[in-house]
Amino acid sequence: MMEKDVLTLGIESSCDETAAAVVRNGREVLSNVISSQIDLHTVYGGVVPEIASRKHVENIIPVIRQSLSEAGVTLQEIDHIAVTYGPGLVGALLVGVSAGKAIAFAAGKPLTGVNHIAGHVAANYIASPELEPPFAALIVSGGHTHLAVVEDYLSFRIVGATRDDAAGEAFDKVARAVGLGYPGGPKIDKAAKDGDPDAIPFPKAKVEGAAYDFSFSGLKSAVLNYLNHEKLAGRAVNTNDLAASFQKAVTDVLTEHTMALLRETGLKKLALAGGVASNSALREKMKKACDKNGTQLFLPPPILCTDNAAMIASAGYYAYIGGRRDGWSLNAVPGLKLS
Ligand code: KG4
Ligand code: ZN
Repeated sequence: MMEKDVLTLGIESSCDETAAAVVRNGREVLSNVISSQIDLHTVYGGVVPEIASRKHVENIIPVIRQSLSEAGVTLQEIDHIAVTYGPGLVGALLVGVSAGKAIAFAAGKPLTGVNHIAGHVAANYIASPELEPPFAALIVSGGHTHLAVVEDYLSFRIVGATRDDAAGEAFDKVARAVGLGYPGGPKIDKAAKDGDPDAIPFPKAKVEGAAYDFSFSGLKSAVLNYLNHEKLAGRAVNTNDLAASFQKAVTDVLTEHTMALLRETGLKKLALAGGVASNSALREKMKKACDKNGTQLFLPPPILCTDNAAMIASAGYYAYIGGRRDGWSLNAVPGLKLS
């Protein structure tokens, strides 16, 4: 344990949320401000990168100011600044990285670049102060689907990933196809509650020779084919049944692969992360499976599952106490890998 408290200012702008947060010692949230642009992008049916960047420019300073004032601290009292530098949209990332560097330079504070995916995992450190590595993690968001072993705070072993669409992307595309709108995940989740998950037998895709990898594009095509087929036959589609059946196909595969990893590694702790970790069917299925084999399940509340800066501050804190420092050459890396 460090003798003195470390206050981290976290900054996140990788996609369509402008966010800033103040976190004490990587675990205790003093403020967590999120300015969402979802309404702006809804009319286009998805995130428009140019619009996202421009909105980040407008929002970033007010959001950072608000995070400091809600935490009741001044910039001078901050010990360290953590900013997402990838993966994400390059123009969006650049806004946060530039703001983080400028503020760190002006205030004379150390700066740490954070991998957004590592940030999603760290949401669990905030939600569950007792959680420590090693543990297994399933990271499922709009841009990523990873199955990983978190060996230590700064060391990840990716054992599986999607070969095509991310899980959240599949939810968004299917929702759009059935007219539920954007973002699709929460809408499918809601519609599925009134549907029969066994109504339509959608395929559960496996990747030959890679037990932990995922593939969702075949499932998405199966949904589109089903919609076309029903339309040609003049039959009305029950959206609730379709949502429930599609959601079952996705969450069954996610749960089965994760349980196989727990069996193989003997790990007794599992953490979920990312926007899709809010999905109610996934949470229920994982809970049941974990209860059955004696695994402790860590589920952040939905506000920490979606993009936020508290998780970035937490991941940044562990990098900071591990000695990582970034200079003024820190740049946005849109395709940044987790290693
Ligand atoms: O982590 P996140 O906020 O942003 C990324 O880093 O991508 O994840 C957003 C994704 C979107 O695809 C959204 O549709 C999905 O998470 N999502 C859900 C749910 N809530 C959000 N997917 C399924 N069920 C939900 N309840
Ligand atoms: Zn994210």
